[in-house]
Amino acid sequence: MVTRDPGLTRVFRIVEKAAQSQASVLLRGETGTGKELLATALHQLSPRQHGPFHAISCAALPASLLESELFGHVRGAFTGAVRDNPGHFRLANKGSLFLDEVAEMPMEVQAKLLRVLETHTVIPVGGQEPISVDVRIIAATHKALRGEVEAGRFRADLMYRLRVVPIFIPALRERVCDILLLTQRFIRELNQRSARQIAEISSAAAEVLLAHDWPGNIRELRNVIEYAFVIGEGPVLDVSDLPPELSGSPLPSPPAAVTRAASARPFPVRTVESAKEDERNRIAEALQAASGHAGQAATLLGMSRITLWRRMKQLGIAGRRTR
Ligand SMILES: Nc1ncnc2c1ncn2[C@@H]1O[C@H](COP(=O)(O)OP(=O)(O)O)[C@@H](O)[C@H]1O
Ligand SMILES: [Mg+2]
Repeated sequence: MVTRDPGLTRVFRIVEKAAQSQASVLLRGETGTGKELLATALHQLSPRQHGPFHAISCAALPASLLESELFGHVRGAFTGAVRDNPGHFRLANKGSLFLDEVAEMPMEVQAKLLRVLETHTVIPVGGQEPISVDVRIIAATHKALRGEVEAGRFRADLMYRLRVVPIFIPALRERVCDILLLTQRFIRELNQRSARQIAEISSAAAEVLLAHDWPGNIRELRNVIEYAFVIGEGPVLDVSDLPPELSGSPLPSPPAAVTRAASARPFPVRTVESAKEDERNRIAEALQAASGHAGQAATLLGMSRITLWRRMKQLGIAGRRTR
């Protein structure tokens, strides 16, 4: 990881030190600022480097599924739980567990997580016996947890547990000195495996890169450079190689009447289509959590396997036949 920004350099030092301890680290930063990359770096610098590193997003799953993903479940815990699932805590035993988007964790799961962190044991869903686990927690969020606590969406006691070492990663637009540094680095990397060879950046293109506000941060910058490799030609990266949202003239603002109409009558949020989309997502998540195993996914969704297949057909989800 590279930087010339004094703030981020300090962050790297803190990560190096924190790696030597067992303390829970909470990384805060916008999407694409490198939270997951820092979490893996922290693990690799720690005495647990030879142990496992597991990552789970707390935003992607409904509460019951997240709970069984984190803490596991025993065979027969719910209808059709055909086999034991160890859960991420046990999979990360003697290693590190990265809890991404931790602010999105449902309250009931937060309560269970706190218990696990305090007792160093997990009780799988449907299980009786606590099982000891030795896991180092690294959490990440793009939100200020304190704000979530004040809004009543996050437990204060859990916040204190998680943010023993709080680390803030500044957005790319706040460390402009890194924009061209990272650009050069990505160009060097992509030169290695592309037909196009970029030798330099035109000053006009550099200006555009420096002026952009990078809401997607380093991930967005990387994608922009990849785009330039695909779209442009020749040894000079110029403005015309950049995606339209950077190179084009700024979008004209919508006529006042349109904005007024839009704010006067809010669009319906939930339509039949969005309900279908929700279900599609839920099914896709369950299938992913069950590694494509339809029977297990059906269990996680609380429906029979036949219902699941029928819904998948109706919603146009392609089933992967497994086991
Ligand atoms: N300082 C850095 N130097 C080089 N690449 C970086 C740096 N920080 C992030 N990246 C890259 O940017 C992308 C987004 O990083 P990621 O850790 O997934 O961000 P987040 O988890 O905050 O959304 C990844 O491809 C990562 O390798
Ligand atoms: Mg991420």
